[in-house]
Amino acid sequence: MKKIVFATNNAHKLDELRRMAGDRFEILSLKDIRCFDDIPENETTFEGNALAKARWVRDRYGYDCLADDSGLEVDALDGAPGVLSARFAAEHDDAANNKLLLAKLQGVPAQKRTARFRTAICLLEGDAEPRFFSGAVEGRILDAPRGEGGFGYDPLFVADGYTRTFAETSAAEKDAVSHRGRAVRALLHYLHAE
Ligand code: IMP
Repeated sequence: MKKIVFATNNAHKLDELRRMAGDRFEILSLKDIRCFDDIPENETTFEGNALAKARWVRDRYGYDCLADDSGLEVDALDGAPGVLSARFAAEHDDAANNKLLLAKLQGVPAQKRTARFRTAICLLEGDAEPRFFSGAVEGRILDAPRGEGGFGYDPLFVADGYTRTFAETSAAEKDAVSHRGRAVRALLHYLHAE
């Protein structure tokens, strides 16, 4: 069976992809290949970071690899936090990041609080050129958090056409419209057609 490393330490993302990938290929984790590196993510675009992570693993460990990078782009903040989404206020501190986002948007009226989540996935197979799969979901940022589910900026984000935040929807409902759901479906469509 074809083996592909998914360069993430996020167990939730790994499980999700394994569930969706079926039995055509084996998705290996970084732990499975004994990669415990602190892989740098210093690029200025989601695609750049996804490529850097996939290359790191392919070049050092020799496996076909895929990697993803995502974040939130807020129009009133010129696209911030963008690639800095995970460390906007403090590294992987969702509450602090959400608080900072609300502070920066204080006084910005509802119609100007437009935003989107974006995901880029990079696939490196053999010597082929890198292949990218992307997904986005448009929406807006509320002025107070709502809901207990999800992670990151989910309690502040309402997708266009919806009234509930991503923290108030089920995981399946979120996957159906989310940036990551869309990018993963595009990746799987490609892999299954290969
Ligand atoms: P990652 O690249 O998928 O790990 O995402 C980087 C950061 O973007 C996360 O730490 C979150 O702050 C934010 N983010 C990405 N996807 C989502 C999402 O689906 N909901 C909420 N926040 C997200």
